[in-house]
Amino acid sequence: MATRAVYPGSFDPMTNGHVDIIRRGLKIFDTIIVAVLENPKKQTLFSTRDRVRMIREVFGPRERVEVKAFRGLLADFLRRNETTTVIRGLRAVSDFEYELQMALMNRTLDPTIETLFMMPSLHYTFLSSSLVKEVVMLGGRIESLVPAVVERRLKDFSRKPKGLKQYV
Ligand code: PNS
Repeated sequence: MATRAVYPGSFDPMTNGHVDIIRRGLKIFDTIIVAVLENPKKQTLFSTRDRVRMIREVFGPRERVEVKAFRGLLADFLRRNETTTVIRGLRAVSDFEYELQMALMNRTLDPTIETLFMMPSLHYTFLSSSLVKEVVMLGGRIESLVPAVVERRLKDFSRKPKGLKQYV
């Protein structure tokens, strides 16, 4: 039977650290479903549609990666997609407490859910979407940190009069 796992997140925007985790996940699972959170309460730099589009552009149609937006509980998204495995990246010990809380809450909501933590390449242990936005805003270079499509879009934003300030 084909195996599938869900990789959820805000992906505002996707970084090379996220790409690295997905590629590692593809060594274990036949398909990874990237679940992009649409949270009406949280202001994001990129719209849900843009975040989904950029991730689809990074992986292309032949890469065993599906990209879907979701609202509400992750546990409900998993049930709708007939999957019980969640992948999350762990960069440092500081990530652990939040990740443990989420994993145990998801398991409380649905005891069939298992969370699998994966370590990114050492190159990306310092990387986060918020830091990338800050670096772009301050004029730093990010080409080794994000996929080309994300770099283009971030540079477009930083040229606008209001720029990225309100999102960093
Ligand atoms: O990239 P992020 O922002 O760290 O991802 C967090 C995410 C999307 C995985 C988490 O906020 C989430 O699953 N939200 C959906 C709401 C939910 O299910 N909450 C209860 C379990 S924590």
